[in-house]
Amino acid sequence: MSEQNDSSLKLRDQEPQREQFLEEALQGLSAPRKQLPCKYFYDERGSQLFERICELPEYYPTRTELGIMREAAQGMAQRIGPECMLVEYGSGNSLKTRTLLDCLDSPAAYVPVDISKEHLKQSAEALDSDYPGLEVLPVCADFTRDFELPQPARKPRRRAVYFPGSTIGNFTTERAVEILEGGAKLCGPGAGLLVGVDLKKDRETLERAYDDSEGVTAAFNRNVLVRMNRELNSDFDIERFHHRAVWREDEGRVEMHLVSEVEQVVRLNGESIRFEAGESICTEHSHKYTLPGFAKLAGRAGLAVREIWTDESAHFSVQYLEAGS
Ligand code: TRP
Repeated sequence: MSEQNDSSLKLRDQEPQREQFLEEALQGLSAPRKQLPCKYFYDERGSQLFERICELPEYYPTRTELGIMREAAQGMAQRIGPECMLVEYGSGNSLKTRTLLDCLDSPAAYVPVDISKEHLKQSAEALDSDYPGLEVLPVCADFTRDFELPQPARKPRRRAVYFPGSTIGNFTTERAVEILEGGAKLCGPGAGLLVGVDLKKDRETLERAYDDSEGVTAAFNRNVLVRMNRELNSDFDIERFHHRAVWREDEGRVEMHLVSEVEQVVRLNGESIRFEAGESICTEHSHKYTLPGFAKLAGRAGLAVREIWTDESAHFSVQYLEAGS
């Protein structure tokens, strides 16, 4: 771990390194059903594209979740309580967080955790200057693995995880349970978790949210190939892979794929990877839940759902979880 100090804010750097990316990419692409971990979407360009996705008319989750936050942040802040240390997983531009920070009673510190370093730096700096009394302690890390929490100057009364964006849905059930458990453990006794959870709805709405008419999501998906070519010495012909999003009712998730248009061999750091025509790389799962379905998942992590806030059409939910039954 190294620390960087080229600005007023100190960023704790636990960014995954190239070797880890290479290892995970090779492992995923040698599997019988090819896949890539979705965290590698978020290089600088990927983070920019993702912000554009969040503003698309078809992409309902961000807008809906932000609406819920604006309506209910007061109640959420009450659940979390005074003088908390708020740890955010996948903080991105911290837009939704602001609605929460505005309502929290003298928070001790805010710890945004994100894998996209430059992006994290910029949003942490903006937040730091907009909230002068708040200690902002950014950590560049993969929150799906163990990482160290920084020590705030003021001792918090409790720690809470804020995990918006339905990012929890991007993991298999087993990993999602581990991540929730990990969050509760990281925050210690009395931990609270405020989680954004996307809900099941009709196929058309779901598929359009992940395959917009402007092609931003397609560009975002294919950008992971551009990134591999640059960072992992691969030679993906980007034009020969197209984006596909499908709602898998049986699995309760939208799957994002990059489909090889032809039979081809791609070189990656000296290894050959064969594709049949029509064979795909699964680049992301986005699970959608029912309220009882998510409560069951939380229960497996030893957490109980204490309160749920939703929008009028019940398209999205924000849920407050604590240890217990
Ligand atoms: N957590 C977001 C989601 O599941 C991530 C996401 C949205 C995403 N759109 C995407 C990931 C398109 C890959 C491609 O909704």
